[in-house]
Amino acid sequence: MSKPRKILPQSSLEAQVLAALQSRQERGILRRLPDPTSLSSSTNTNLVDFNSNDYLSLATSLNLRARFIQKLQSAQDILGSGGSRLLVNGQAHSALEARLAQFFASPAAILFNSGFDANVGFFSCIPQIGDVVVYDEYIHASVHDGIRASRARGAHFSFEHNSLSSFKELLKKLLSERPELQTGQSSLFVAVESLYSMDGTFAPLEGIVHILEDYFPQSNGFLIVDEAHATGIYGLQGRGRVAELGLEDKVLARLHTFGKALAATGAVLLTKPFIRDYLLNYARSLIYTTSLSHANIIAADSSFDMLIDGTAQKLSRHLLDLSRYFLDTLSPQLRDVPMHILALPVEIQHASPPSPIIPVMTTRPRPLSAYLMQRGLNARPITWPTVPKGKDRVRVCLHAGNSQGDVDRLVQGMMEWARGEMAHDEAAVRTVVQSKL
Ligand SMILES: Cc1ncc(COP(=O)(O)O)c(C=O)c1O
Repeated sequence: MSKPRKILPQSSLEAQVLAALQSRQERGILRRLPDPTSLSSSTNTNLVDFNSNDYLSLATSLNLRARFIQKLQSAQDILGSGGSRLLVNGQAHSALEARLAQFFASPAAILFNSGFDANVGFFSCIPQIGDVVVYDEYIHASVHDGIRASRARGAHFSFEHNSLSSFKELLKKLLSERPELQTGQSSLFVAVESLYSMDGTFAPLEGIVHILEDYFPQSNGFLIVDEAHATGIYGLQGRGRVAELGLEDKVLARLHTFGKALAATGAVLLTKPFIRDYLLNYARSLIYTTSLSHANIIAADSSFDMLIDGTAQKLSRHLLDLSRYFLDTLSPQLRDVPMHILALPVEIQHASPPSPIIPVMTTRPRPLSAYLMQRGLNARPITWPTVPKGKDRVRVCLHAGNSQGDVDRLVQGMMEWARGEMAHDEAAVRTVVQSKL
């Protein structure tokens, strides 16, 4: 039988693209959409969800569903908004903004179609010529994309994750090199996430605010906090970490996304009126796109009902109790397990409050995730380039819909797998030793 003929690329573009994909495949980092029919699909209800960002399990809440349907039935408009916010300024959009500005005690609020669009919109247009952006090294990709498109694209610097000393060093250096920052003629923007999505670590917001006030007495140091993963979970009625710490007046902008704990779509940027007006004029991801559909607005509005009536706060209490329980159950059992097989970062073990995002560090994230999946537990491997090299993990995201029994099964599954790996490694060492005798 003749060998199958290798299909040659039809163009140099195809050749380059295929070579890049092939390279990713060879390095084991090719991204693919999960197979919707596979065991790991998020719609597979036989799996316990330790994966999604639906932290409060509102996506399956019958209460939220009923509320949403009821509002849809009585709403005047439920389908597409019909155009950009600037052309068809929907009453529903403005009403939600007003509601959110009040709820979050913010002087202004502006909706975006997604958190990604909000970060790109803000960072691409707010920094002016001569301004500088600094950010935590783990900041979300959307902030990078915004900066890349901004006037500060040649003036952006990262500091070590959550390190106040690294932050201070960076500010000192920038102030000494750029007199306009000292005189207040130019501005410095600091981008952080209140809760980091891959590490479950909290930004030291109070420390950052103090340092900024100290180093920028001209009030030209501005803090922007992405609350994507803290929304609905922390602070009174789920208002987020900034509100929990009483720092509302100390930040220039806060981002709350609707797609994670709120089980909806879209995002709101809470900021000052002059920033809102500027975004409406210059943020391309706001101007040149069709605004959220009415159904999306109604869905987000229904989720905020759940925050305001205290439902989210109850769910969040249970969620954080589960996080504590998971850490307290797993942590003592890891004492005899080599760190490269299974480990919990120290800062996570002692975090107060706990985080629903718990990275379980392992050099073998794919086999661990596959082992758990076979046992009906969906916790996904996270590897480079999503996290730095050498920091592979299985990320556990807990949910209000998880039970203590689910968590017990997860810990048991992880420990069974770890013991199997240890036995396997010991057997391999014995074989090598014997072969040398
Ligand atoms: C920290 C952070 N910011 C922003 C976003 C983007 O939000 P959205 O999913 O609404 O586009 C995400 C989502 O991945 C995120 O994790």
